[in-house]
Amino acid sequence: MPLLAFETSCDETSVAVVHRGQILSNVVSSQIKLHAEYGGVVPELAAREHLRNLLPVASAALHQARVKVTAIEAAAATRGPGLPSALMVGFNAAQSLAFRLRRPFVGVQHHEAHLYSPWTKDNPLRADFSNFEPNVSLIVSGGHTLLVHVQSDLAYRLLGATVDDAAGECFDKVGKLIGLPYPAGPEIDRLAESGNPRAFAFPRPMIQEPDDDFSFSGLKTSVRYFLRDHPELLTDPRRICDLCASVQAAIVDVLVVKTIRAAKRLRVACVTASGGVTCNRALRSGLTEACQQERLKLRLAERILCTDNAAMVGFLAERKLNSGERATDTDSDILPGWILQ
Ligand code: KG4
Ligand code: ZN
Repeated sequence: MPLLAFETSCDETSVAVVHRGQILSNVVSSQIKLHAEYGGVVPELAAREHLRNLLPVASAALHQARVKVTAIEAAAATRGPGLPSALMVGFNAAQSLAFRLRRPFVGVQHHEAHLYSPWTKDNPLRADFSNFEPNVSLIVSGGHTLLVHVQSDLAYRLLGATVDDAAGECFDKVGKLIGLPYPAGPEIDRLAESGNPRAFAFPRPMIQEPDDDFSFSGLKTSVRYFLRDHPELLTDPRRICDLCASVQAAIVDVLVVKTIRAAKRLRVACVTASGGVTCNRALRSGLTEACQQERLKLRLAERILCTDNAAMVGFLAERKLNSGERATDTDSDILPGWILQ
């Protein structure tokens, strides 16, 4: 069934056409430039930008997929969590379309969609759950840092989350201290490549704690104090690279150690990761090495599916409909604070 999926939970306007797990199109319009000048996402601006972009993005997605809107057999959208006014744009569009076409509508939990984004194969990409197995899944983005135990297909339990800043937020805030533009994660990744990760010893918050929660605001604060005491460092490009590499190493260490520890404790044979920070090369190689050492299988979401996108929303919606789950009522509301249960 060609399914039209919408994602507008934060600052990416995305529409995808998915058909039996195959991505026929996945158009993403990022608002990064709009929000960069404010150093972070401004909710009101995000919602208005989604309103302006949604239908052009939807037209492009249908055109690329060579599917007429009347051939759409189901519609889906992110229902939560996210910025309320931003969520409403995609959710209402999908609801209205389903209502007009008399087709089922599915409102999905954004993090649940991330959980399935590493399960793909081939080029062009298609969802592939043939080797699906229980796993521990790390979801790391600018808004969230979660560890989830995926017990079986469509059954999972939240293990832990960040108690303050998300990992991506930490990259972005440290970048701001260094003077990098928002979002700073990709630039820190690039600068860190020529830096020494052992140049400065930053804390690895909660790395020894037995629970699966994370905390990154203390790390950001220690970088702030460090720069207050060593302001000259910011005038030396080589030392800036060392700083980026050292901060990145601290973040990656915590994420890798806690993910592997949870996987071993729960005796799963597989680890997966998704979310914008999963684009980070040190995190990808850190997880790869650790999983090899512990003989765990690793599935990292493809880069285009790491950041927010509608294809993952479509995969999950299709999966839910195929498994006989009830469609979402057309008079349902968004759930901005929806926590993965
Ligand atoms: O998933 P995403 O697109 O949006 C949400 O926050 O929901 O993730 C964006 C976050 C930003 O904080 C950005 O700095 C971070 O992901 N990010 C990275 C990299 N690419 C994106 N952080 C570190 N290294 C990267 N290569
Ligand atoms: Zn996300």
